[in-house]
Amino acid sequence: AEIVIVPNADAAGELVADAILRLVGRTPDAVLGLATGSTPLSSYQALAAKVAAQPVDLSAVRGFALDEYVGIPVGHPESYRSVINREVVQPLGLNPDLVHVPNGALDGIQTAGDEYEAAILAAGGIDLQILGIGRTGHIGFNEPGSSLTSLTRTKTLTEQTRIDNARFFDSIDDVPVHCITQGLGTILRARHLVLLAFGEAKADAIAAAVEGPVSASQPGSVIQLHPHATVIIDEGAASKLA
Ligand code: F6R
Repeated sequence: AEIVIVPNADAAGELVADAILRLVGRTPDAVLGLATGSTPLSSYQALAAKVAAQPVDLSAVRGFALDEYVGIPVGHPESYRSVINREVVQPLGLNPDLVHVPNGALDGIQTAGDEYEAAILAAGGIDLQILGIGRTGHIGFNEPGSSLTSLTRTKTLTEQTRIDNARFFDSIDDVPVHCITQGLGTILRARHLVLLAFGEAKADAIAAAVEGPVSASQPGSVIQLHPHATVIIDEGAASKLA
């Protein structure tokens, strides 16, 4: 992977926003892979600022979120459907009909993964996939032990990830236990991966992803199998690289 070390998350956001604008300039109906969580927010904010300041039309851009909680009410403010609408679709002026989130409703959960894969294929695949990484090494919600060829399916969140995401909920007991996530195989099919990480809490996961052995116990390490992966990190996240 290509490693880019930036001073802070805002500088990373500028790079990601510029990459997306170049992509959309070439391909107005480009397909973006959208991460949620804290890490990509500076990218979405930088892109929204650029879109407000220059004539650029994102109305044909398509999107696929990485993951969703299972069993969370769709209208819950922390469902990833809500988060994607609030942080991405509205500020960027995307067409909500073109932005997909895995269906985490219990009713139909058996087929939701296959349906999501079919929708990604029908869109022609993901052009640029934005990724964060968890302290467990997960990308998407592919926790350690995920098959390197896995496709969209339900998974159980680790206790560590539920603790880390409890900040979005009233208490840890409110954090869902299950999720539906693009698989590592799904992620590897995207044409360009952009993995972002900020802060020392991510340093071990980044070192394992970038320099460790490719292994199901470090899901982020699959980026080493991808021919076009860019890792944009700050000094803290880079601090355990050799
Ligand atoms: C989010 C996702 C996760 C997060 C990861 C880091 O859609 O798939 O892999 O990217 O948990 O979360 P933050 O950015 O909140 O530290």
